[in-house]
Amino acid sequence: IPVQPFDYVVFGATGDLTKRKLIPALYHRFKDGQFDDNSRIIGASRSKLSDDDFRKAARDAISQFVEKQYQDEKVIDRFIKICSYVPVDASNPDGSGDLGKALRDDPKIVRAFYLAVAPDLFEPIAEYLQKKKLYRRDARVVIEKPLGHDLVSSMEINDGVAKIFKEDQVYRIDHYLGKETVQNLLALRFANTLFEPIWNSAHIDHVQLTVAESVGAGTRGYYDESGALRDMIQNHMLQLLCLVAMEPPASDDANALRDEKLKVLRALKPIVNGDVAKNTVRGQYKGVKSETTSVAGYQDELPDEKKGSRTETFVALKAEVENWRWAGVPFYFRTGKRMASRASEICIQFKPIPHSIFDHAEGAPKANKLIIRLQPDEGVKLMMMIKDPGPGGMRLREVPLNLSFAATFTERTPEAYERLLMDVIRGNQTLFMRRDELEAAWKWVDPIREAWDRSTEPPQSYVAGTWGPSGSIALIERDGRTWHEDEV
Ligand code: BG6
Repeated sequence: IPVQPFDYVVFGATGDLTKRKLIPALYHRFKDGQFDDNSRIIGASRSKLSDDDFRKAARDAISQFVEKQYQDEKVIDRFIKICSYVPVDASNPDGSGDLGKALRDDPKIVRAFYLAVAPDLFEPIAEYLQKKKLYRRDARVVIEKPLGHDLVSSMEINDGVAKIFKEDQVYRIDHYLGKETVQNLLALRFANTLFEPIWNSAHIDHVQLTVAESVGAGTRGYYDESGALRDMIQNHMLQLLCLVAMEPPASDDANALRDEKLKVLRALKPIVNGDVAKNTVRGQYKGVKSETTSVAGYQDELPDEKKGSRTETFVALKAEVENWRWAGVPFYFRTGKRMASRASEICIQFKPIPHSIFDHAEGAPKANKLIIRLQPDEGVKLMMMIKDPGPGGMRLREVPLNLSFAATFTERTPEAYERLLMDVIRGNQTLFMRRDELEAAWKWVDPIREAWDRSTEPPQSYVAGTWGPSGSIALIERDGRTWHEDEV
């Protein structure tokens, strides 16, 4: 179904995000017929490009970042015709092109500004838009991480944007919320009767959230300022936690859902003082050199002036949600770069059966596990016990009831940005973070960060290509549990 016609202005049009994610995502939506004929994409940045330069860049982005099988020359020709470009320098309005001329005044045409720029430019751009009378009360502004490096800086960023745009106009992207499999958490929990009655501390022993990446981090300048806690936990993984732990919202209204997510964040037990050393582990990968492999360590990838950095490339932590539903159920988080493989999943570990009648059977009953695989090989797996077929008496065996998305669906799985970019036009904020959510997340993360900064201990090192430092294993084994590495 086509969305309303729009003027999508992309600030930071020459940047990496535009090239890698935004243009390919818009192209896919266009190709699938979701754009009204009257829609326009307007690139803006400080570079003095022409329309044709931008169109060529868009064409290049598609050829580089859209899979070959979806590159259709005729569609690309039509797509780039709706692209145009205006040079804009928010700090020098007089030296800028006329963005107003590129925008249409018709109130039926949705006006959206995507700020794919550094956060210190959000406020100047918002002010520029107002000064140039390009702001409309129904316009939308899209912003994304890094939305600050702590609570105070994130509030400053939000305040800067809020000088011009009201909260119902602000779309804070966390691309994890655009992932099909992440949204599927909502369907799994709230479109089935099976899980919700047992989705609580009476039946669940603990939950594990893993986002493991095999890529390294060292060459991204931003990463060293950020580290895994800010880069992955504060945003993506806390959002995953919210979707797993929240109460059922009363409706699919954006605020109904975000209210419930916020309650989870506010119920997180603060990890402070001595608990930081006990409940968190940070690591940094070191290189490996053997006859067959050579992988650089994080330190080797850093420029000279950053050598010796204590930035963590791995975090494991134990979180607790202090409410009726989750009392006594730990949530173990684990994320890192240069891990053994790329694998993101949520593992719900149920409690053991209360009484076994299988004393004489071969193999003991194992507690059920529900594994929600976010990427790659998206799917849902329920580990259950069955009788091993055969006449040899009762032999118990653990087998997966396995739903593989690739085997079940033939449709292409859209990229996270495709859904999110169109939701902006639809005016649907459900999959975007509200200001209070973002701030509650920072409030929980800050004391951990501060304790690490005060600590004289460096991050534990782990060998590139492994599942992280030994402290991560110790963190969970102390509680008599183990990471589900056989599954990831
Ligand atoms: C980004 C982080 O937000 O998410 C990156 O800055 C990380 O460091 C990426 O690699 C992971 O996203 P995905 O979609 O590849 O899981």
